Amino acid sequence: MGDLSPSDHRTTSAQTSPIDSGRTLAQPRYSRRSLLFASAAAAVGGAAAVAVGGGITVAGRQISTAATTTGNIEQDEADSVGTATVPFYGTHQAGVSTPAQAQVALCAFDLRHGIDGIALGKLLRIVTDDIARITSGRPALGDTAPELAATPARLTVTVGFGPALFDKIGRPDARPSGFADLPAFPEIDRLEDRYGAADLLLQICADDPVTVAHTQRMLLKDTRAFASTRWVQRGFVRARGSGPVGSTPRNVMGQVDGTVNPADQSEFDQLVWHPGPGWFTGGTMMVLRRIRMDVNSWDALDRSAMETTVGRRLSNGAPLTGSDEHDEPDLRATDATGLLAIADFAHLRLARGEGPAPQILRRPNNYDDSPGADGDSDLGQLFCCYQASIASQFVPMQRRLAAGDLLNQWITPIGSAVFAIPPGCEPGGYIGDGLLG
Ligand code: HEM
Repeated sequence: MGDLSPSDHRTTSAQTSPIDSGRTLAQPRYSRRSLLFASAAAAVGGAAAVAVGGGITVAGRQISTAATTTGNIEQDEADSVGTATVPFYGTHQAGVSTPAQAQVALCAFDLRHGIDGIALGKLLRIVTDDIARITSGRPALGDTAPELAATPARLTVTVGFGPALFDKIGRPDARPSGFADLPAFPEIDRLEDRYGAADLLLQICADDPVTVAHTQRMLLKDTRAFASTRWVQRGFVRARGSGPVGSTPRNVMGQVDGTVNPADQSEFDQLVWHPGPGWFTGGTMMVLRRIRMDVNSWDALDRSAMETTVGRRLSNGAPLTGSDEHDEPDLRATDATGLLAIADFAHLRLARGEGPAPQILRRPNNYDDSPGADGDSDLGQLFCCYQASIASQFVPMQRRLAAGDLLNQWITPIGSAVFAIPPGCEPGGYIGDGLLG
């Protein structure tokens, strides 16, 4: 690999069932109260619980993010979705604080045998050059379909390093503090190796699926001499313009998902960006959990039981103790029956714990793969979160949820991986240059 230059590499590598159709509503089989009692019993018994931005420019100008009175985005903005860009260069990599794009492809790779720090540096220079070009609407070198690059659609590509990469390049000392593989969560994890840890991540996000596919193809082409593809996981959230600008999206269970998140610079600095010192200053750590949803049994709940499970209303995401989405939950309030209004084992309560809210940045995506032969949906969440320290922020939260979250009855983690997301770079530099340069 040692003599492979970026330009050499580019030129040589071109290489409802009919029976149900008349029904209006499924008959609920669980009520809120039976759910609560069942949960409490299981938790007391100690068993696994029953059963929890970047600036945007269009043609050189800042696009409007103001909602119209009808809740739709401005027409000129809708027309320009395809040409909108997110700046690539900067202190932090794009694709973390960037408002979520509609489409994501998470591509993971393992370094090929013999790839050392020098070769990895070459790969990262190539990838950085590709990303800088494609995210600004210009084709990557050697792009045989350059017209496709003219539609960046808020494209971001975020590079991450898996835990084993530091050993493989002989730099175990450079592994950022707080960055490690996750411990096992045996109460909930049913992990499949095909979605497991990898050396390198390219998180490709854009508002247009063709842009994502084209970017993925370009990057796979330039990566394959250095690394083999481990997996690609594709996800999506609501398309831009399908709801009021700035509104919190809903997941495929129907819940408003993403309400409590860092909102301003000081929260990002405190919770998301690594404070340093050292080469990782301004980086972050990503946890990806592929979480399957058992939507068949979820559909059997009545709405009140669904709301109890999370602690928020389905209608607008408000806490059960409030009326607006962003009302502060009252964790001590009781209802008319004397039960806690937000249940002991509600997702919201356990995710929050005793700590302040928010504690991590969540950027969840949905996935929807081919149903099995029985017609059961293969639906779930690509739960992506970012924090300054996996060890002190994510792990305690996941432990609490694994031990008692009511939602565990309907969700199962089947994939898990962590990545250190290096800081951003400036023109002339490359992603990871602080580690390898
Ligand atoms: C399929 C899996 C999951 C679903 C469907 C889900 C759904 C939700 C929903 C609907 C909310 C309430 C609204 C909001 O603040 O966004 C929420 C909150 C939250 N979730 Fe999850 N979640 C899932 C997995 C996880 C995991 C794995 C974690 C972390 C280990 C987590 C951490 C949180 C946190 C920190 C909050 C905010 C709690 C607060 O402070 O109010 N969630 N989730």
